[in-house]
Amino acid sequence: MSQPTPATGPAAALELRDVAKAFGAVVALRSGSLRVEAGSIHALVGENGAGKSTLVKIVAGVHRRDAGELLLDGRSMDFGSTAESKAEGIAVIYQEPTLFPDLSVTENIFMGRQPVGAGRRIDRAAMHTEAEQLFRRLGVHIDPRRPALGLSIADQQIIEIAKAISLDARVLIMDEPTAALSGVEVERLFAVARSLRDEGRALVFISHRFDEVFDLCDTITVMRDGSYVDAVRTADTDVDSIVAMMVGREVGDLFPKTPAEIGETVLKVEGLSSTGEFHDVSFEVRAGEIVGLAGLVGAGRSEIARAVFGVDRYDAGSVTLAGRSVKPHDPRSAIRAGMAFVPEDRRKQGLVTESSVARNISGVIRGGLARAGLLTGAAESRSAAPWAGRLEVKTGALDMNAATMSGGNQQKVVIAKWLATNPRLLIIDEPTRGIDVGTKAEVHRLLSELAGQGMAILMISSELPEVLGMADRVLVVCEGRITADIPRDEATPENVMRAATRSSQEAAS
Ligand SMILES: Nc1ncnc2c1ncn2[C@@H]1O[C@H](COP(=O)(O)OP(=O)(O)OP(=O)(O)O)[C@@H](O)[C@H]1O
Ligand SMILES: [Mg+2]
Repeated sequence: MSQPTPATGPAAALELRDVAKAFGAVVALRSGSLRVEAGSIHALVGENGAGKSTLVKIVAGVHRRDAGELLLDGRSMDFGSTAESKAEGIAVIYQEPTLFPDLSVTENIFMGRQPVGAGRRIDRAAMHTEAEQLFRRLGVHIDPRRPALGLSIADQQIIEIAKAISLDARVLIMDEPTAALSGVEVERLFAVARSLRDEGRALVFISHRFDEVFDLCDTITVMRDGSYVDAVRTADTDVDSIVAMMVGREVGDLFPKTPAEIGETVLKVEGLSSTGEFHDVSFEVRAGEIVGLAGLVGAGRSEIARAVFGVDRYDAGSVTLAGRSVKPHDPRSAIRAGMAFVPEDRRKQGLVTESSVARNISGVIRGGLARAGLLTGAAESRSAAPWAGRLEVKTGALDMNAATMSGGNQQKVVIAKWLATNPRLLIIDEPTRGIDVGTKAEVHRLLSELAGQGMAILMISSELPEVLGMADRVLVVCEGRITADIPRDEATPENVMRAATRSSQEAAS
């Protein structure tokens, strides 16, 4: 049996005891407890919907708790706003970036606390310089003067990280900060996190990637169904024990790739170019084949996918689906031709969040249903239910508003929504971003099965093990070009990474 609360001792930097929070009939937190020492990095893990983000939002002053205690250095706190939490030295990187699109990158970082120069004028130059220094520390190149609008999810996340670091907080909470980042960015972030720990700050790190948890964190708190399960030292445990505590059941293997019969060419992309994004991109995806698009964040993988599907324009080249040419910049014709696209930014492009889960899942096929005179609430629920069940979408009911679902559950709804269209080609950008370990295995099994039934799948993933585990062929993108086409049995982390960094190295030499 686990203890009801973590062991108590001298005051911790941050402590929550038996915190509860309900939203109407939905109990998000039953008994959340967490104890984080100064000078340590503490992981908070649990399945999708376990209550991690809710706990974070209570510390951040976004939500007010219904019961329980919140202590900072032993002092009891009750935050009525995010400003009050910030004033106590708490910085939070939220799971979903919350930037203001029309403001510049710098303005987003220094929101509400612009440095004032001589004559009490806001010193813009000083702000830009400080933003540049933060980016240098994180090892990224983002123009601080550009607007936040149009930045990739990864860049948005990096700006959130820069913003949190610039607050010089005593407690830094990171809710899945790495979900959109790839290896190099993650390493930079971890280096910064470790240096903050060594300065005596307390850090909380939420992630579904266990390799990161074990690499970075000193201690781990496990949550299940809104409650604290146990807190353990990383050195005294292993992934299997953590997973067992999280899910309380057996989890299937990740990457259960089964061989599928490779058939006709489904997608043919020829000479696709878009100025400043990618150049002369040609490749094919066949029926039954899973093609992985690997590369560093910013290499142009998502841009290529978006152009193929028609969300973005391209300047030259062509896209053919099952022998018929697909009109450029026309997602509707792409859908009609049999394409489905699960985008990386589920909030902006993937999910009609204000609407119910059932509507979100059946939304794409609604046109067809309506034409057949079948559009009823019952029909919607029927088309949604099998997919929602298969992906273990955890909601009170299918008529729940998708906006209030946990991050991972929203991702599952987006996938379900597109699978319900029964496409010939599925383009899926970061299929398991934010999805917990149990469902991740399920998503992988599903992709493998769909390929087995003859679907062509183009999968973008920043998780190298996922690409190597699932893809029949790996296309590596580097600075907007395809630099390698590696068959499954020859693909290794080394040759993929080499191709992913090739042209910049060549340019440097
Ligand atoms: N504002 C809200 N209104 C209603 N229900 C909510 C709200 N916020 C969270 N919930 C519910 O509370 C539960 C816990 O959600 P939470 O976001 O804390 O999970 P999580 O552990 O962060 O999951 P994930 O790993 O998917 O991000 C979920 O069932 C979610 O649907
Ligand atoms: Mg969450």
